[in-house]
Amino acid sequence: MGEFVVRGRSRLEGTLKIHGAKNAALPIMAASVLASGPVVLSGVPKLRDVDVMIEVLRSLGARVQWDDTTLTIDPSDIHQYVIPQELMMKMRASIFVIGPLLAKLGHAVAMQPGGCSIGDRPIDIHVYGFSQLGAEVTETEEGTRLDGPELKAATVHLSYPSVGATENLMMAAALIEGETRIRNAAMEPEIVDLAQFLEKMGAVVRGAGTPDIRVVGQRELKGASHTIIPDRIEAATFMLAAAASGGHVMLENCIIEHLPGLTGRLRDLGVELTEREGDRVEVQAPDVYDTVPVSLHTGPYPGFATDIQAQFMAFLLNVPGVHIISERVFENRLGHARELRRLGAQIMADQRVALSYVGRTVHGAYVEALYLRDGAALVIAGLTTEGETVITGREIVYRGYQDLDLRLNQLGADIVRR
Ligand code: UD1
Repeated sequence: MGEFVVRGRSRLEGTLKIHGAKNAALPIMAASVLASGPVVLSGVPKLRDVDVMIEVLRSLGARVQWDDTTLTIDPSDIHQYVIPQELMMKMRASIFVIGPLLAKLGHAVAMQPGGCSIGDRPIDIHVYGFSQLGAEVTETEEGTRLDGPELKAATVHLSYPSVGATENLMMAAALIEGETRIRNAAMEPEIVDLAQFLEKMGAVVRGAGTPDIRVVGQRELKGASHTIIPDRIEAATFMLAAAASGGHVMLENCIIEHLPGLTGRLRDLGVELTEREGDRVEVQAPDVYDTVPVSLHTGPYPGFATDIQAQFMAFLLNVPGVHIISERVFENRLGHARELRRLGAQIMADQRVALSYVGRTVHGAYVEALYLRDGAALVIAGLTTEGETVITGREIVYRGYQDLDLRLNQLGADIVRR
């Protein structure tokens, strides 16, 4: 495993352009399976997870070409409907192709993705949704098999607003004639982006961004061109890095409305966030943070995003006070608290709740990134820490952040890869 060596106490300054959103690109790439002709995507980030999705699409028979700015996917030769196990194991988001495969070919087989470092992450809600659309579900040696040569539009009520299940069902519904209704749907901006892409292919999607989505599917969907929305999690990570370092940074290609849970918190703590023309956001940290206790819990959008909980905890090391963070989306997503303790932070945590007392200087240490967002959090902690922080697990961080180290260095950080 590669490492980042972060030498702390640099103040971030300068301008940075946010990449396209990984979590919008992956389902939209999967949705390309539905088209009868080529799909052209711009703004797809160059990430390990995107590479895996390309491998998945190729393994099914798609032709994929990626030049510097555009990703072209031609799905006309897709006839394979079994997702290779090794790709499912490499990336859970491979599961996004089962909805499109089921709707297009009438079948899909995927090994159940196992648990990961943040929780069990079952796919029961996806599978329940497909069964409501008429798919037959069987457990086979190869994995979960879905057969639905004649799917029917229906109303599906989700027991939890799962992002992946909402997306998978929207994609399948886009190729089923008639109106499918998804109730208690997830409302994330990535869902709205997927809806716009499905509309460009010829489906009608109403209510994306609300808990009640209606998809009027078509017998055939055409190829389309689309630009992926900016990555709100990457934007939040840089915002928090800038705020933690006492910095002053301009983020380009940043949609501030996509970060409702975070921006209010940062402003309450004295960080100035100013919207500038052309999707730019200026981040100006105060000279020092006042003592303010912070209490927050993560939740589905528009709640505080679980994907920025770790980075926010690392940022809070700079805000004096007693802070409570509850993780309510995943059952085991506070592993970074233990790593932050190695840096001298005073944090107590069980699987769901972390309590931190800030008031002691943290110092460099050897820490481990178990998950990509944890890795980003440890980098943020390293930026503001006295001495040298060595973070192992660099490759895990690159699953979600293209050149995180180089981009922070561009703003004045001192991070070395080894
Ligand atoms: C997506 C994001 C991920 C983010 C998460 C929550 C992508 C590629 N990933 O993941 O970065 O952290 O949303 O915002 O977009 N659940 C079930 N059964 C299911 C599905 C989900 O119990 O069938 C549970 C999960 O275990 C988890 C919760 O629901 O506890 C949320 O999961 P979900 O919204 O589905 O997240 P993902 O789509 O996997």
